[in-house]
Amino acid sequence: MKHHALLVTTLASLLLIGCGSTDTEGFGYDQIALGEQLFHDTTLSQNKTMSCATCHVIDAAMIDPRETSNTLGASLGDDGFSIADRNAPTAAYASFAPAFHFDSEEGLFIGGQFLDGRAADLTAQAKGPFLNPVEMQMPDAASVIERVKENSSYVSAFKSIYGEDIFDDTDRAYEALAQTIAKFEKSKTFSPFDSKYDRAQKGQATLTDSEKRGLDLFNGKATCSACHPAEGENALFTDFSYDNLGVPVNHALREANGKGADFIDNGLYDNPMVKDTTLKGAFKVSTLRNIAVTGPYMHNGVFKDLKTVIHFYNTRDVAGAINPETGEVWEKGEVDINKNTEELGNLKLSEAEENDLLAFLLTLTDAQYEHLVP
Ligand code: HEC
Ligand code: HEC
Repeated sequence: MKHHALLVTTLASLLLIGCGSTDTEGFGYDQIALGEQLFHDTTLSQNKTMSCATCHVIDAAMIDPRETSNTLGASLGDDGFSIADRNAPTAAYASFAPAFHFDSEEGLFIGGQFLDGRAADLTAQAKGPFLNPVEMQMPDAASVIERVKENSSYVSAFKSIYGEDIFDDTDRAYEALAQTIAKFEKSKTFSPFDSKYDRAQKGQATLTDSEKRGLDLFNGKATCSACHPAEGENALFTDFSYDNLGVPVNHALREANGKGADFIDNGLYDNPMVKDTTLKGAFKVSTLRNIAVTGPYMHNGVFKDLKTVIHFYNTRDVAGAINPETGEVWEKGEVDINKNTEELGNLKLSEAEENDLLAFLLTLTDAQYEHLVP
């Protein structure tokens, strides 16, 4: 199924490349290049300091490498002081998430964009950050489109691609903006599938013994693949379902962003399409592609080190087990009542097995980011 999704995308990008020359003549731009420019354009934020690329830096595996994100776990807004409550996930490989839906056979919500799936797809997602009061902070879609219109080359590109009358209707123009950015996010830059793991699948690289043992643990004793399936070529390491892992509150972040001690991030349950209270605290299963270089980890960035995440899965429910980052026993989850106790919490992995698992996870780094692996 994932193979199929990839094929469709590859075909789509081939078609686009195929039309490239016509695009250049007819439009003055091809859509991917226009999307790339919009993705990097800071003039589309209130104070003109922030673009999509501020929090999804292409050269940093599409995450936010800034100080606040590293130390607290979430991004600073365009005003220079607002701080969000969720860690910026990588935008790499995000295009493969199916549209948000309820799978009635499995009885599970699947797919969508954002960690709670509240945007059905990439185009819907791209409409969010411009207007988010802790992100790009524009007051409404009309003001974003006014900023687009300040750039005459954007105006001609939008008109050639979407029609002379595209700016007559703000909603249509805003949709076109989001669609163009989504086109860029579907390009190969975001999903090269060329990590050591991929090269090994194609017989172009050989996993070390430790990496191989890690892969076996991942698919076996450690049960990671139950939610992060590692099936064959171009595996995405997520089934795009939702789960509550019992992740603890990030207290330092909550203090910094002023959310207060009583605030609870209910994750999937805050998605307006979800009514089932047992889904409180569930978040979308993350891709593990580039995981070595996309920390801090979990929806709230509470864990700085990938080793901590592995140790958390292994020992969350073991009496007296210590969180190596706090030196204290694992704190209970933010929404502890619904947490998954079947597939994690006491995996009985030895320290050597944890290290093998880590070695395997490091092989999921795309070639363009291998120099970033710590
Ligand atoms: C201030 C930092 C910030 C900016 C600016 C920003 N993002 Fe994000 N991005 C985030 C955070 C945080 C999330 C997760 C939010 C959530 O789940 O509620 C996210 C989620 C996403 C996702 C979903 C990934 C997934 O796996 O669900 C995509 C795609 C994305 N952003 C693309 C964009 C685009 C396109 C723009 C510009 C229009 C943008 N972002 C601007 C921080 C940012
Ligand atoms: C029951 C499903 C499930 C299992 C089993 C599981 N995961 Fe996860 N994983 C998730 C979910 C859901 C998230 C996102 C949780 C959140 O943000 O609160 C996640 C997040 C992660 C993250 C952080 C991703 C990021 O970008 O912040 C890592 C690393 C990870 N998992 C690795 C593993 C490893 C290694 C194993 C096996 C030891 C494993 N997972 C087993 C569901 C699962």
